[in-house]
Amino acid sequence: MGILQGGRLVQWMDIAAAVCAQTHAGKICVTASIDTVSFKRPAYVGEILTIEAKITRAFTTSMEIMVSAWSKSVSSTRKHLISESYFTFVAIDEEGKVSPVNAVKPITPEDRKHYDEAWKRKKRK
Ligand SMILES: CC(C)(COP(=O)(O)OP(=O)(O)OC[C@H]1O[C@@H](n2cnc3c(N)ncnc32)[C@H](O)[C@@H]1OP(=O)(O)O)[C@@H](O)C(=O)NCCC(=O)NCCS
Repeated sequence: MGILQGGRLVQWMDIAAAVCAQTHAGKICVTASIDTVSFKRPAYVGEILTIEAKITRAFTTSMEIMVSAWSKSVSSTRKHLISESYFTFVAIDEEGKVSPVNAVKPITPEDRKHYDEAWKRKKRK
């Protein structure tokens, strides 16, 4: 159909989230859960994709990562949000046991909003 498969996009989003989590934790992290993923717009063959992963909050051994995916055609500067979701990663040590991670300090009001909402999402799990 000339459009990106949803599962392929989720795989790429998972990789971006893993890079983000492991960069924060400084250790291996595994995907514990992925919140609802919605596909807001198709990405067409030949378009350029940007995937952005950002840590919203670190708990004891887990971290919430917000991932957004954008597409744009080569000839345009306008990018479109195609998908976004929250991923939870858990840090593990050399023995495969869960391992503590450093806290995240929100800086901007938007950071604070995501930080507070992350706690509500965690409580719902
Ligand atoms: C994720 C995993 C390491 C958690 O291990 P566990 O023994 O259940 O760990 P705990 O119960 O001690 O919980 C550890 C943390 O993980 C969080 N967690 C566990 N399962 C979770 C889930 N399904 N969703 C969100 N967070 C989860 C807990 O809330 C806790 O967070 P905190 O320490 O920050 O408060 C384990 O379930 C696992 O290895 N899963 C497979 C991971 C994997 O292979 N992923 C790739 C996809 S196949």
